[in-house]
Amino acid sequence: MAKTLHRLIVSVVVSALASIFFIAPAANADVSPMIVGGTRASTSTYPWVVYLASTSGSQFCGGTLTKANKVVTAAHCVKGRTPASTRVVHGRDDKQSTAGTVANVTKIWVHPSYTTATAGYDVAVLTLDRNISSATLPLATPQDTALYTAGNSALILGWGTTSSGGSASRYLLKANVPLTSDSTCKTAYSQYSNTSMVCAGFPQGGVDTCQGDSGGPLVFGGKLIGDTSWGRGCAAAGYPGVYGRIAPYYSVITAQL
Ligand code: ARG
Repeated sequence: MAKTLHRLIVSVVVSALASIFFIAPAANADVSPMIVGGTRASTSTYPWVVYLASTSGSQFCGGTLTKANKVVTAAHCVKGRTPASTRVVHGRDDKQSTAGTVANVTKIWVHPSYTTATAGYDVAVLTLDRNISSATLPLATPQDTALYTAGNSALILGWGTTSSGGSASRYLLKANVPLTSDSTCKTAYSQYSNTSMVCAGFPQGGVDTCQGDSGGPLVFGGKLIGDTSWGRGCAAAGYPGVYGRIAPYYSVITAQL
């Protein structure tokens, strides 16, 4: 009898501990499972955010409508792709719906100096086969230096994964992340260059873009200041997200619009 009671107590204690150590962290993780640390957003609020898909409809990157028939994205998203194998989806919050417009791509321009994301120049422009009647987002210009002040709370958007190595989001997600100083980013990444990149993230991590968000917008002051490019893992403390810096590319991008 005493042995049965002892076993019962042991099993109650073990399951209580299990619920603290295993169940509780899982429940906490569910509180902020999105972009990484984001929440649902609507393309009616952010009409210029688009996603890139294969011909079978599978989403692989993000982008920004900067003219009725032009999308700015990351070079690493489209380098080596053919226009014929690429689609741009506009106005579809839920990837499993048929809302919005699916445009074909007629031309892919990749920055001529692009090699790999960590070397910079990670920007590309897609030409669509139609004009999309929607608001567009203006590009940051070389005069817009104030938009890049460290601490500015920039908006990130995307349909990418909700944790490093996790699965992609079904829905458009958004979050805000503070721009980091050049010295903070250089400390994290030796490849960081303030002439072609800008970093954003909280010192403690927790909120970030992640795989599949690449090419999508980093927005501050109503302008496109960056495009999602790279990072070590996602949302890790001490490793902010790295974005292509749009202002230095204003002229070369505008020449494609
Ligand atoms: N390279 C990723 C992509 O192709 C984006 C990674 C962003 N990483 C980050 N930690 N912010 O979608």
